[in-house]
Amino acid sequence: MKFLMFSDFHHYPGVFKAGTVEDMHLLQRRAVEEGCSFLLHAGDLCHGPELVPELMAVCDASPVPMYHCLGNHDTDSTSLVRTLEYYHMPAGHYHFDAEGYRFIICDPNYFLDGGEYIHYDRGNYYSHGPQRDHMPPEQLAWLEQVIAASAHPCILVSHESFERENGGVKNYAAVRRIVNEANRRKPHSVLLCINGHYHRDNLRILDGVCWWDVNSTSYDWIENPHSLYPAEMYEEHRLIGNTVCYNDLLYAIVELEGTTVRIQGTQSTMFMGVSREHTDNPVFDAMGRPVRPTIQSVCITL
Ligand SMILES: [Fe+2]
Repeated sequence: MKFLMFSDFHHYPGVFKAGTVEDMHLLQRRAVEEGCSFLLHAGDLCHGPELVPELMAVCDASPVPMYHCLGNHDTDSTSLVRTLEYYHMPAGHYHFDAEGYRFIICDPNYFLDGGEYIHYDRGNYYSHGPQRDHMPPEQLAWLEQVIAASAHPCILVSHESFERENGGVKNYAAVRRIVNEANRRKPHSVLLCINGHYHRDNLRILDGVCWWDVNSTSYDWIENPHSLYPAEMYEEHRLIGNTVCYNDLLYAIVELEGTTVRIQGTQSTMFMGVSREHTDNPVFDAMGRPVRPTIQSVCITL
């Protein structure tokens, strides 16, 4: 089976150059050309679907089904309830079976406040930096049960990472335990775990499972802005100085066959040659990963 994977589209006209409506058309066209069963987005499609009816209309008219996963920004300016409606999601976490595989969409978009897990909703998490990104215990129990009950190998998808020991989901170890325990009981219960959020391209095999950090379609975010793009671009895109952009859209065609994962990625170059090195920002992230305008192509049999 084949699907088109992409992440961190960040459609935000007037703010970012990234993720245009034309880009979404291109992704849908590519999914049709490649015979994909669906498109799957790993979160941060936009900064609240109510802001961007033009994008929602294109998603709704997609010639190939689209599945979404919530990112921290998707509910920034639209309530969680309305965002789920726009994205046609039954809940933040859900699963579906497709052609011999089970896709489990997880939702670690919760912050801890006085022992309570609170879901991100209209930017309420901004002031809770150190307490962000948790999987609530009920969702961990649900995940364990959904994997155990599956007749098919499972693919986990989340916006924030269960693979990154630094900067990932705070209780990532609990998810890893569930995955490893399921694979111990029944080999290949979980084959692949996918995340977005960090705008990096990385693939790591851990305990026989493929953990895939999926790059953004369009750019990396930088804390300290630069002024290396032409002045008029800053008028058109308010936060372009906080980004280093890619010249071409990054996405991947993923093919699953038995226990083989085949990823056909994309390669681009940095827009105007500007990368983190040219700005007043660290080159590497918390996991030592640099920005590359690439999604690597690999074929792995687990
Ligand atoms: Fe994110």
